[in-house]
Amino acid sequence: MPVAVQTEHVGLLHFESEQQMSTSTSTSIVPSITLNDGNPIPQLGFGVFQIPPEDTARAVDSALHAGYRHIDTAEMYRNERGVGEAIRASGLDREDVYVTSKLNNSYHRPADARHAFAQTLSELGFDYVDLFLIHWPLPTLYDGDFVSTWKTLEEFQHEGRARSIGVSNFQVAHLERLAAETETVPAVNQIELHPYLLNEPVRAYDEEHGIATEAWSPIAQGAVLGDPVITSIARELDRTPAQVVLRWHLERGNIVFPKSTTPARITENFDLFDFQLEPGHSEAIEALDRGADGRTGPNPDTFAYTPA
Ligand SMILES: NC(=O)c1ccc[n+]([C@@H]2O[C@H](COP(=O)([O-])OP(=O)(O)OC[C@H]3O[C@@H](n4cnc5c(N)ncnc54)[C@H](OP(=O)(O)O)[C@@H]3O)[C@@H](O)[C@H]2O)c1
Repeated sequence: MPVAVQTEHVGLLHFESEQQMSTSTSTSIVPSITLNDGNPIPQLGFGVFQIPPEDTARAVDSALHAGYRHIDTAEMYRNERGVGEAIRASGLDREDVYVTSKLNNSYHRPADARHAFAQTLSELGFDYVDLFLIHWPLPTLYDGDFVSTWKTLEEFQHEGRARSIGVSNFQVAHLERLAAETETVPAVNQIELHPYLLNEPVRAYDEEHGIATEAWSPIAQGAVLGDPVITSIARELDRTPAQVVLRWHLERGNIVFPKSTTPARITENFDLFDFQLEPGHSEAIEALDRGADGRTGPNPDTFAYTPA
C-alpha cells in the first residue's frame, strides 16, 4: 500500500506570543503524511540527537515557536524529559505536537523493553507517544532476535500507549523477516538518507510495502551543505543550501526532522514552503549519491552498541 502524501494542514504555524501559540488551532503549512495505520504525521519535524539534556527544553521551545509540531527524540539521547517539559510549558495541547521516541539498544528483551517504554512515558510526562521505534535492529546481538522486540511494540500499540509503531535502521532483510514472522507492518522506517547516501534499496522497499521513510541526518550533519552542486542550486533559487536539501527531501516524500541549537537555523530549516526545486535540480542532487561510502553513521548490519 503506497504512503499518501496529503496537503491537509496540521498543528500551528506562526504566532506572536505565548497566548497566541496556545490558543490558535489549525494553520500549519507543513504537509501531513498518512501512515499505514491511518494516523497522520507532520512531514517536517525537529530532531534532538546530541542536544545535551540541560539544553533540550530551550531548543524545543525555539522549535515550537518557529512552528514545528513534531519532535524526534530517543531513550539513548537522554533528553526526553526536556522534550516533555518544553511541550508542556508551550501551552499547546498535547494532541497538537507529534512526539516520537525510540527503544534503548540495551533493552531489546521483552521484559526490559516494557520497563524502558514505561520509563519513556514517565520521562516525557505523557501517557502516550505518537510513534515508538526500535532504534537499531542489532542483528548480531540478542541471538539476532528483533522479532520478539517488535511483538512487544505491538503490545504498546494495542494498549494505546504508542499510537503508531515503527523501526529505525532496518535493512531490507530485517523488514522481510518482520513481514514473514509478525502481524504488523511498521508504520515508518527511520534510516540515514541524504544526498550522499540515497539508501535507495531500503527506501524503495519501504515505499512498495506502505512503510513511510524518515530520513535521519537529512543534511548529513552539515557535510552536504558545501557541495558545489548544492550551493549552485541555492544561489539559483536564492535559498540556503540547507533549505535546498530539505526541500528536496520533502519533494521526494521523505519525513525529515533536522536538528539545530542555533535559533536562526531552526527558523531557516522550517522556511521551506514558499519555493520549489526546478527541473533538473532533483536529478543533480541525486547524482551526488556515494552509496555505502556516503554513510556518516554506523552500518546497521554490524552496529552493536549498547549503552552501559
Ligand atoms: N534513528 C537514528 O539512528 C538516528 C541517527 C541520527 C539522527 N537521528 C535523528 O535525525 C535527526 C537529525 O539528524 P542529525 O541531528 O544527525 O543531523 P542533521 O539534522 O543532518 O544535521 C545537524 C547538524 O547540522 C547543523 N545545521 C542544522 N541546520 C543547519 C543550517 N541551516 N545550516 C548549517 N548547519 C546546520 C547543526 O548545527 P547547530 O546545531 O550547531 O546549528 C548540526 O551540527 C536527529 O536529531 C535525530 O532526531 C536518528
